[in-house]
Amino acid sequence: MSFLKKIVVTAGPTREPWDPVRFLSNRSSGKMGFAVARQAAELGLDVILVTGPVALATPEGVRRVDVETARDMLAVLKRELVEADVLVMAAAVSDWRPARVHEHKLKKAEMGAALPLVRNPDILQELRETKGHRIHVAFAAETENLFREAHRKLRQKGCDIIVVNDVSASDAGFEVDTNRVTLIDRAETLTHVPLSSKDEVAQTILKRVLQQFDAD
Ligand code: CTP
Repeated sequence: MSFLKKIVVTAGPTREPWDPVRFLSNRSSGKMGFAVARQAAELGLDVILVTGPVALATPEGVRRVDVETARDMLAVLKRELVEADVLVMAAAVSDWRPARVHEHKLKKAEMGAALPLVRNPDILQELRETKGHRIHVAFAAETENLFREAHRKLRQKGCDIIVVNDVSASDAGFEVDTNRVTLIDRAETLTHVPLSSKDEVAQTILKRVLQQFDAD
């Protein structure tokens, strides 16, 4: 029997530059990913936290790598995932980025026209090729059709577990310290986690990951 040793966790938003002062991003605070990293360190695992720009202190015992864009995050993950047993993708990755990054600050008169965007890579889908026995955990932040969307993402991204949360609720999801989630695994088993602190949610996620690791 092998033991789970190394886990890579992503957190926070990505930030996609448009000009030297402007960017495309989202409201992710990073709290959920940081809670997973903190709880994994408590379990004695080797934890790498790859995070977008957030205002949070690095949990004790965690090695942190700061990134800005989705493409940076993918490049760092390709390097850091060597010999990792688990990837937890709690980051809110921007699916699109400005097609052109302007060297000079755009003047207001130049900004009224459409902002052309291009697709960012889907990180989980790109990493699927090299997944092997590594456990991949995705998050799905939804405002409608929660479970239908979660099932689709679990299959499409080739993940083992998806953590679904309703971000339209004011006490769960972005920016707050609590979350109410449902875990769905490959066998479509549902585990409901009632409103709890993000650290408690992180503990439940890690418990489920450990069970999956032992079963595989
Ligand atoms: N994700 C990713 N790469 C992206 C976008 C998202 O790896 N370019 C990961 C997220 O970290 C998360 C999962 O995929 O673990 C689901 O993210 P979500 O934003 O809910 O899904 P999308 O693929 O963006 O789908 P949609 O826009 O249709 O909701």
